Amino acid sequence: MARVLSGVQPSGDLHLGNYLGAFRNWVADQQEFDAFFCVVDLHALTSDYDPTLLAAKTLETAQNLLAVGLDPAACTLFVQSHVPEHPRLTWLLECTATFGELRRMTQFKDKGGEQETVRAGLLTYPVLMAADILLYDADRVPVGDDQRQHLELTRDVAARFNNRYGETFVVPESAVPKVAARVMDLQEPTRKMSKSVSSPLGTVLVLDSPEEIDRKVRKAVTDTETEVRYDPVQKPGVSNLLELLAAAGGGDPAELASHYANYGTLKADVAEALSELLRPVRERLAELQTERGYVETVLAEGAAKARTVAGPTLDRAMRAAGLLAPADGFTH
Ligand code: TYM
Repeated sequence: MARVLSGVQPSGDLHLGNYLGAFRNWVADQQEFDAFFCVVDLHALTSDYDPTLLAAKTLETAQNLLAVGLDPAACTLFVQSHVPEHPRLTWLLECTATFGELRRMTQFKDKGGEQETVRAGLLTYPVLMAADILLYDADRVPVGDDQRQHLELTRDVAARFNNRYGETFVVPESAVPKVAARVMDLQEPTRKMSKSVSSPLGTVLVLDSPEEIDRKVRKAVTDTETEVRYDPVQKPGVSNLLELLAAAGGGDPAELASHYANYGTLKADVAEALSELLRPVRERLAELQTERGYVETVLAEGAAKARTVAGPTLDRAMRAAGLLAPADGFTH
């Protein structure tokens, strides 16, 4: 059975971009593939973060993923730092990736990569991500559009390692959704929706109430025209709303546009479709919130299962790179 792996940072507040770009596909993929999903807490250390909140946010993110629909009986859900093979493989891959290719990553540049004071881990961030993927021999990596470049790097690094040391890693493919692969901010529709933007009005959270969703969608920035038309370059705000409608209810954004004579009715339908889409998530979370012990058990079992796959891969890679194996093997 083909293997799937993907990950999310432990920011706690998951948003609509995460949901439509990634999680919805994770939920579908767990039925069809051998699926591994991780909360990538080590990645959170690459920029400024609050150490007193990290553990709670990691747990909350895992809990939200269960609310979104991940089923521990159908997939393996774990925390990255609970599987020490991830940072260990990262070193081998850091000695495979080049400084030049890491420096050129757009996310590194966007996050201030030129400054002397950025953490070295911000530069090597995509190598840790490559390790996350390659340890599981993943064939398929369901992500939003913003992770495409990191996936290309993962493929290059895997192929280079294989070429240098012999066939060791599966070279993975990214799986990016057809619509809503890049959900845009509702207030600034030329930038992607994210949790780190200035106005909270621009970001719909997966756990927002229907009233909150309605308020945010109604205040969404459009343009001074009145025509509803799908044109991401000239009309990014309206096109984003049409993509959201298509992603939530099906259909094609350009075709859906022809059903609307003004922005008001479009916004009302988008708000309604999003509230309905996210309703089951809110309901499941309310049940899960009383069961902290359950989430911790899921994560403990997930890490144990993950190590049974990651350990042999790391062992294979260490041997391929020519390191002297201890008598009882590299990983225990
Ligand atoms: P992260 O935590 O920023 O986002 C998690 C997932 O959500 C997608 N996403 C979006 N999709 C559409 N529109 C948006 N506005 C939007 N914002 C976020 C992301 O593409 C992602 O799929 N580096 C990764 C985490 C990671 C990972 C991995 C992913 C670490 N190791 C291994 C896959 C495989 C990240 O920061 O995602």
